[in-house]
Amino acid sequence: MTKYNVAELLESDKFLQEVTVKGWVRTFRANRFIALNDGSTINNIQCVVDFENTDESILKRITTGAALAVTGTLAESLGKGQKVEIQVTKIEILGDSNPDEYPIQPKKHSFEFLRENAHLRIRTNTFSAVMRVRSALSFAVHKYFTENGFYNFHAPIITGSDAEGAGEMFTVTTIDPNNPPKDEHGNVDTSKDFFGKTTNLTVSGQLEAETYAMALGKVYTFGPTFRAENSNTTRHLAEFWMIEPEVAFNNLDDNMDLAEDFIKYVISYVLENCNDDLAFLDQRLLQEEKTKPANQRSEMSLLEKLHFVVDNNFKRVSYTEAIDILRNSKPNKKKKFQFIIQEWGADLQSEHERYLVEKHFKCPVILFDYPANIKAFYMRLNEDGKTVRAMDVLFPGIGEIVGGSQREERLDVLKQKVEELGIDEKELWWYMDTRKFGTAVHSGFGLGFERLVLFTTGMGNIRDVIPYPRTPQNAEF
Ligand code: 4AD
Repeated sequence: MTKYNVAELLESDKFLQEVTVKGWVRTFRANRFIALNDGSTINNIQCVVDFENTDESILKRITTGAALAVTGTLAESLGKGQKVEIQVTKIEILGDSNPDEYPIQPKKHSFEFLRENAHLRIRTNTFSAVMRVRSALSFAVHKYFTENGFYNFHAPIITGSDAEGAGEMFTVTTIDPNNPPKDEHGNVDTSKDFFGKTTNLTVSGQLEAETYAMALGKVYTFGPTFRAENSNTTRHLAEFWMIEPEVAFNNLDDNMDLAEDFIKYVISYVLENCNDDLAFLDQRLLQEEKTKPANQRSEMSLLEKLHFVVDNNFKRVSYTEAIDILRNSKPNKKKKFQFIIQEWGADLQSEHERYLVEKHFKCPVILFDYPANIKAFYMRLNEDGKTVRAMDVLFPGIGEIVGGSQREERLDVLKQKVEELGIDEKELWWYMDTRKFGTAVHSGFGLGFERLVLFTTGMGNIRDVIPYPRTPQNAEF
């Protein structure tokens, strides 16, 4: 007897053969039809039970959520909705699921309820589809970079430098808060802490990736990053995964080309490899959209949006052009924006980014050449002395999905910037060394993986595209 998974059986033409499959009951209808799912596909296999010849005590235990091993003959199905089914000859109950207690019943549950049951929500169609797509995207990320000559580089998660300035950090310490070691001034003596200094969870692997790009040429990190901001939005997590390529000798144009090519590749990969899950998510979004007022509905379906991104060029627009567009826009003139754009130099809020992408250009946009004083210290200063070679990729429905730049490779300019910002240069001695020894033009970016998953699956809340979301006041599971 050969064991199969459900995906294989549904594609199989091994009719009349005996098969065994293990999985979890989704539904059990009329004491006869089990819909069994094993995670290999969004589709269930129908198992037809000969209930007249099956022990009553077994039938009672076939409840939603129970784990079963089903053996039977694979047959062409006469019923609607499936090509094949299993005519059951033997059922083994591997694990019972008490129907009075099991929270995931075959009915519509709210996403809030499912977040409270994040350990079981993966047993629903929506979450299993999202997480299979997430897995495929992750694989596509590694595939893209490997095929393009990049080395995967593991940036440290615990970092002793807090100079990046990308966000508030979580401290890593073994000091007992109730009994901390003190110095002679009565302050907490961090030299007695585990690492002999203050350490944090990383906000980005970029600075370390830059050092590796200066020897390996093309590297990328794909790892967890942490931000302690108190941002309770549908786009922010305290723990999220970031993909950060860094490439020696690339300028900002090369960097934009890389970001665009990379995003198109990974989305094409899931379009080619996740048909059933995307078809399901497309329908899910369609149903959700129907609950909205007509003027708030998206003009495109999920699949149309994904194809649109793959098939069209991203619009590249300088910050200065974008400010002109925004200043002359209706919502700015009619004071509909929460933050009115008055002059060049203003930081763009997500309402402005979304206006540019969703209303003005109606396609993904790469904004570049931002004012130096609203961007990080390491970005390459332009000849105008006031803008830097920064770029943000903005996506419909998401806003910023990528942030990156050409890096400042000139030691004197970098030193001056660090000094102006009051950053302790000694802390960055190793970073400065890359500019002392064989410095070169180089560029990179960070793509928030969950924002990519959000876009690709059409989900509305970032908490629903990561298995166990970490957000302010929430670290259950
Ligand atoms: O724009 P950010 O802050 O860029 C950096 O950290 C650079 N050091 C990256 C680099 O150049 N190597 O973050 C990059 C991306 C954002 O565009 C966004 O997609 C995502 O990371 N991101 C978040 N995703 C979820 N939750 C948060 N709190 C996020 N903060 C940033």
